[in-house]
Amino acid sequence: MSQSLPVRLRRLRRTPSMRALFTEVSVTPGDLVQPYFIVPGKGQKAETRPGVGLWQLSPDMLREEVQQLAKGGVGGVMLFGVPDHKRDDGKGLDKQLAPLEAAVKEVKATAPELPLFADVCLCAYTSHGHCGLVKDGEIVNDESVRVLSEMAVLLARWGVDFVCPSDMMDGRVRAIRLALDESGLEQTAILSYAIKMASAFYGPFREAAHSAPSFGDRKSYQMPANNRREARRELLADVEEGADALLVKPAMTNLDLLRDAREATDVPLFAYQVSGEYAMMRAAGDAGLIDFERAVDESLVSIKRAGADVIVSYAARAMCRKERGWRVGQAAGTSPVVEEASSAGIAQR
Ligand code: PBG
Repeated sequence: MSQSLPVRLRRLRRTPSMRALFTEVSVTPGDLVQPYFIVPGKGQKAETRPGVGLWQLSPDMLREEVQQLAKGGVGGVMLFGVPDHKRDDGKGLDKQLAPLEAAVKEVKATAPELPLFADVCLCAYTSHGHCGLVKDGEIVNDESVRVLSEMAVLLARWGVDFVCPSDMMDGRVRAIRLALDESGLEQTAILSYAIKMASAFYGPFREAAHSAPSFGDRKSYQMPANNRREARRELLADVEEGADALLVKPAMTNLDLLRDAREATDVPLFAYQVSGEYAMMRAAGDAGLIDFERAVDESLVSIKRAGADVIVSYAARAMCRKERGWRVGQAAGTSPVVEEASSAGIAQR
């Protein structure tokens, strides 16, 4: 005789279709934005390290990539420039950005309606690798903001839909908005990196973008992970300055702040599952410790559940291309389709 229990949560988890019916949050390719690193030249297409998900492409190699991603329903593509020369005076940006200009045009010619995001930051463009200009060993704010605004205007002119300041200088959202509007680019949106931690999880990115600081660290402009109230101030400042969308990063270590952000404002919210997060899951998967694909699925669902509308992730590409039997859109592992396809990896249901 079984006991009479008023609540039996397992009733709704009994079958795959039951679980599918009651899925609260799932992630589809349309929720994801795929980053690419744009290098000069022709015919270049390589991952910085096998499986790490950081793809360096020359502009001409973007067409086929983007076609496939658009076909797979990706939410957008984000471009980071890797220039062929560095400069520390903030001048000649148009020359440094030449590969990016070509890349933007390539993406727009291939998939005109695909939302296109481009990074606005100086770390990959300067020899010192800091996100702003350096004067007497200091990262100066207001002069950096002027250069960043110029960069945003160039990118917007070439046709990106979102300029994405990731530098963490003060006042740059407002300055970029003004510069865009003055240039007749009032339709270009700003995705602001509002809460960006001085984080240990950016390592693989810096390798791909050649952007590691040559002296010191980024702690005088990126946020300390310790501070929740400060994160809220960063967020609200960017809303005030006119950000169209806000971004929190890294994602996995800031899920609480994502939830805070969701509750603090109705502005669309992005989370960046950064290079180190992805690489960590990949390394653990390669070591046979976890099922990489399921770990990525679970992490993306958690990020969305915490409050993100959109996730920038190196997993977008493989999901859209349905590589390695990726269970597209079924991140929670709840549908019959998922059960059937779950042969790869370690059995640990
Ligand atoms: C540039 C920038 C960084 C990332 C995004 N934009 C690196 C950094 O601040 O050093 C990191 C993204 C990732 O790790 O995937 N400022």
